[in-house]
Amino acid sequence: MALNLVMLGPPGAGKGTQAERFAREHGIPKVSTGDILREAVHSGSELGRAVKTVMERGELVGDELIIGIVRERLTRPDAMAGFVLDGFPRTAAQAKALDEITATRGPVICVEIQVPDEELVRRVRGRRVCDDCGANADAFGHKADELPELCQNTERCRSIGPKWVARSDDSESVVRERLKIYWRDTRPMIEYYSARPTFRVIDGLQSPEQVREALVAAVASALGMPASQLRTLVAKKLGAQA
Ligand code: AP5
Repeated sequence: MALNLVMLGPPGAGKGTQAERFAREHGIPKVSTGDILREAVHSGSELGRAVKTVMERGELVGDELIIGIVRERLTRPDAMAGFVLDGFPRTAAQAKALDEITATRGPVICVEIQVPDEELVRRVRGRRVCDDCGANADAFGHKADELPELCQNTERCRSIGPKWVARSDDSESVVRERLKIYWRDTRPMIEYYSARPTFRVIDGLQSPEQVREALVAAVASALGMPASQLRTLVAKKLGAQA
């Protein structure tokens, strides 16, 4: 059995924060569609040029494009023992495509992180990311406004230090647009998952550490096994593939 996890929730709920840590701790890749698209914009690739304006407005990029990206990413060998999806699916068409992609891969656990809108706006407006690699200042355990010189992810971060900036879609007006789109297009899609036995909801108003613990407990309960066995699951699957 693989460890397939989908993080659901509105902008700023903490999907990326939790996906990053869960993936690292369980030895599976984090697949973040937002990160993939931002990297493309940063590199100036054809894909990046195609999606830049759409992202800056807080709108969704086309289903066909994003489904193609996720399909390709999830068929790479490192995703066969499991994955954490962050930011996908967001529409009914994407959810249907994910069902097709994962049809023969065992259960897909869907965890929705719930946070009230005003707290989401507060978090996202305060977020600062490394201009070069996109790392989140808060992820280092500092408050965003402390602008720590700690990012080490790329040669540039290591050599001249990170430049901490607001994400281009994190202004209040764009965040409110992203929330509007979330409630209109994405939240109804979550209903599609909610009747499944592998669907769980967690309270995202807790501290990041408490959310992490709730996430691990939710995944373990959805799979009907103790949390301590989750890592073994991945190791066994990788062993079977080798
Ligand atoms: P994407 O990057 O996916 O953005 P999002 O879903 O709007 O989510 P965010 O990254 O804003 O929030 P998050 O839930 O990951 O929270 P985080 O952990 O960062 O998408 C961006 C754009 O790309 C879209 O608008 C769209 O244009 C396009 N796109 C992407 N996927 C697409 C798709 N499938 N289809 C179409 N278009 C797509 O946390 C937020 C902040 O809160 C951080 O500063 C963090 O440190 C802090 N924080 C986290 N947890 C806590 C906590 N428990 N308590 C207090 N603070 C916390």
